[in-house]
Amino acid sequence: MFAKQQIQGLPPYAPGKPIEEVKQDYGLTKVVKMASNENPYGASPLVAKAITHAASATSIYPDGYGTVLRDKLAAKHALDKQQLILGNGSDEVIQFFCRSFLTPETSTVMATPTFSQYKLNATIEGAIIREVAVKEDGSHDLEGMLAAIDETTRIVWVCNPNNPNGVALDEASMIDFLQRVPESCIVVCDEAYFEYVAREDYPKSLDLLKEYPNFVVLRTFSKAYGLAALRVGYGMAQKEIAQAVDPVRPPFNNNTLGHIAAAAALEDETFINECKEKNRQERERLRVYFEGRGLFVYPSETNFLLIETGVLGNKIFQAYLEKGFILRSGEALGYPTAIRISIGSEEENGELLQVSNEILPGLGV
Ligand SMILES: Cc1ncc(COP(=O)(O)O)c(C=O)c1O
Repeated sequence: MFAKQQIQGLPPYAPGKPIEEVKQDYGLTKVVKMASNENPYGASPLVAKAITHAASATSIYPDGYGTVLRDKLAAKHALDKQQLILGNGSDEVIQFFCRSFLTPETSTVMATPTFSQYKLNATIEGAIIREVAVKEDGSHDLEGMLAAIDETTRIVWVCNPNNPNGVALDEASMIDFLQRVPESCIVVCDEAYFEYVAREDYPKSLDLLKEYPNFVVLRTFSKAYGLAALRVGYGMAQKEIAQAVDPVRPPFNNNTLGHIAAAAALEDETFINECKEKNRQERERLRVYFEGRGLFVYPSETNFLLIETGVLGNKIFQAYLEKGFILRSGEALGYPTAIRISIGSEEENGELLQVSNEILPGLGV
């Protein structure tokens, strides 16, 4: 076996239990998944219409450049289309950046806890990984991250808002950070939950892109746009960076249905605004409930909540699972005594709260 040393013993991604399996295991007729921060309202109806029309075009390779989607994204964000990097999910864009910038001689800096894929991909490239603990309020310790950057550092990751705690950074902090990161290091700002953010001082990252040549922004169609199954994400950067990364992109990395679905989804901003508002109301409802039980809830700008329970996450996870709710244990996320809940629909959340009334006292929460 001559697999790269750094991947030997690396655990593969552990997906959540499939809904059908949970039904069978616990004799349930209904199971609700609130684990992967998907949109409980699905996608715009324009998406299904558009991909139905395209369903007979499967024998032809996709447009490798994603021209239609690229043009639409460029127009939406007032960018040159050469500033865009389309990925099979933003997961793949993260992979492109690691492949393009990281080697065993270079280092990368990230928060901890944060989204797992930065570390995984950096590990695969053999890079030196420097993790800087988030502050007590869950926000990135930008001073600590700056101190961890040296002349070997090629990428610093800012997950804004951060998964798994949902906490977002403000614009003034981001600008101060960008001003102090050396140009030899790119700043990849992952805005997977951008559409859900409400705080008014959130960074206007598209403006910052113009000013900082080492700044990169990632977005995705998997969350608010409801296209997680079709795997479309993208990066935005100044042309030089986007062009530098492009050669590592496989020729047909997005499929035709993904292109068409994403392009259709962009036509329906009303859907996104409605989802954002419903998510805000429901997130508030869950927050008030859990805080009412005396638990600490991280201030979330996303479609999920991280809740400190004081009880091991796997125990809480299991109790909910047996009642038909797939949540995410904090144990694998760097918060051993927390549980992460993706905000569901009004009905799903109502059921979750009912079940919580039964489960939590039994667990001493
Ligand atoms: C912060 C963050 N970035 C990126 C992703 C990857 O999303 P996708 O590959 O579906 O675009 C996720 C998914 O959960 C995420 O939470």
